[in-house]
Parts: sequence; structure tokens; C-alpha cells
Amino acid sequence: MSIDRRALLVLLLALVCGCSATARPPAIGKVLVVGATGQTGRLVVRELQRQGFTVRAFVRDAEKARRLLGDELEIVTGDVKDPASLPAAMAGMDALISAIGARSATGPDRPEKVDFEGVRNLAQAAAKAGLRHFVLVSSMGVTHEDHPLNKMFGDVLIWKARGEQALRASGVPYTIIRPGGLVNEAGGQGRLVVVQGDPQVGRATVPRADLATVCVAALFYPEASRNKTFELYRSDGEPVSDWQAVLAALAPDPA
Ligand SMILES: NC(=O)c1ccc[n+]([C@@H]2O[C@H](COP(=O)([O-])OP(=O)(O)OC[C@H]3O[C@@H](n4cnc5c(N)ncnc54)[C@H](OP(=O)(O)O)[C@@H]3O)[C@@H](O)[C@H]2O)c1
Repeated sequence: MSIDRRALLVLLLALVCGCSATARPPAIGKVLVVGATGQTGRLVVRELQRQGFTVRAFVRDAEKARRLLGDELEIVTGDVKDPASLPAAMAGMDALISAIGARSATGPDRPEKVDFEGVRNLAQAAAKAGLRHFVLVSSMGVTHEDHPLNKMFGDVLIWKARGEQALRASGVPYTIIRPGGLVNEAGGQGRLVVVQGDPQVGRATVPRADLATVCVAALFYPEASRNKTFELYRSDGEPVSDWQAVLAALAPDPA
């Protein structure tokens, strides 16, 4: 059989089976960053740009966003509490990274409104828009209702857990990253530890720069990171060199 006929046969088989000749989905190229003006969101934008993704930022204040993020990206304004502001922001995007978080413990932007309802609104809009992957920055400790942070900050971890659940229920392929305490230190300086099951790990911290790297790695390897939830913190040791292998080794969430 000539090479051309063999290629045709592979193509026909792929069409009949409803699958492609390779296991990898079409590349994710355009990414919406929600919470792009936040401390982590800014680093996510920068990392995506460094890796060659096209970035659109979803922000509440366009002027602040231009000042913080520069001119090399598209900016759309809205509020995660307002579902009507989400479809236009997601149109034409392949994927979304959310690094939003409530700015205050009480009032209209309390955790219930941002970390639960806001994330739920994003997940539902992402499902409608047909986004191929949603990376959510959550937090270590979300399954520990007696965690002191809940008393200190409007039940933030409890609401974040509800936000995670809304994303899992949306049907959009996702990765949920639960970092330890965030610090503004240089990335790439130690070993990033990835665990599952939300163990109590004492004082666990991770630089925002490293968190941004892992958010983007999840989009680089969407099959390896698909429908997985994991905690992330930094320890001593060599930096991770193969994120695809680390993500692939994790267990997916129960269906
Ligand atoms: N701090 C920690 O130690 C820690 C630990 C574990 C997990 N986390 C989580 O990690 C994530 C990132 O934390 P961070 O400290 O880097 O974030 P951050 O600087 O507090 O930024 C939060 C972002 O959320 C945006 N936002 C808040 N309410 C919004 C709304 N209603 N609509 C649209 N955007 C909204 C903010 O926009 P504006 O700029 O307009 O305010 C800002 O861009 C958060 O989910 C946080 O809870 C934090």
C-alpha cells in the first residue's frame, strides 16, 4: 500500500472511531485569565505570555489592568458576580485560569459571593462557551471546616470548597490547584510538592511565581491534568523538571 493510501486509511479509521490519530487534543492557544490584576493573576499572565499563549484578561478595572499588565494583551471588564458579563469575555477562548479571591470577609465581595458564586458563574459560563479547560486556584485546607481561616475570613475555605464542587459539576474539563500559603518570593528555588487528599501539612507555603508556573503547566498538559485536584507547596530539593509526568501520576477526582 502506498504511503498516501495508508494515511488515508488512518484518517478514515480516526473518523469512524471518532478519535484522532494522536491522543493529544488540539493545542490550547487562547487563555482568559480571571483575577488578572491580582498578585497571582499578574504572574499567570506573564507566564502565559512568556510561553507564547494569547492572553485576554478579565478584570473589574481596565485602567488598573493596563497599568499593571501593559499593552500586549486584550482586556475585558466585568465582575464574576454578574453572569451577564461573562459570555463575551469567554467568546473565542480555548481555556480559562481563575486566580480570583474575595478581597474582604464581609460585604458584597465576601467569600460566599466571589469564591463560591463567582466560581460557579464562571464554570457555568465556561460550559456554555465550550471552553476546553478550566484551571482554578483554590486553597489547601478547603476540606477542614474547623480551619481557623474560616472564623477569621468569612468561611472562606468552606465557600472555596463549594466553588470547587460547582466546577466539578459543570462538565468542563478542569484542574483544581490548592496552594499552601502564598508568598512573594522568587520561583524555581526548591522542590514543588504535589499531594492529594488535603492533608494537614503544618506550615506549607508556595511562591506565587511557582503557582503561576503550575497553572500554565496544567494547560500545557491538559490530558495529564484533566479533572484532577491537588495541593501544592514548596519544600527543599531539586525543582520539578517534568510536569507532564507529575500531573499524569495524579489520581483523577471520582466521577
Ligand atoms: N493569600 C494566601 O496565602 C492564599 C493561600 C491559598 C490560596 N489563596 C488563594 O489564591 C488565589 C490568589 O490569591 P492572591 O493573593 O494572589 O490574589 P489577590 O491578589 O487577592 O487577587 C484577587 C483577584 O481577584 C479579583 N476579584 C475579586 N473579586 C472579584 C470579582 N467580584 N470579580 C472579578 N474579579 C474579582 C481581584 O480583582 P481586583 O484587582 O479588581 O480587586 C484580584 O484580581 C485566591 O483565590 C486566594 O484565595 C491565597
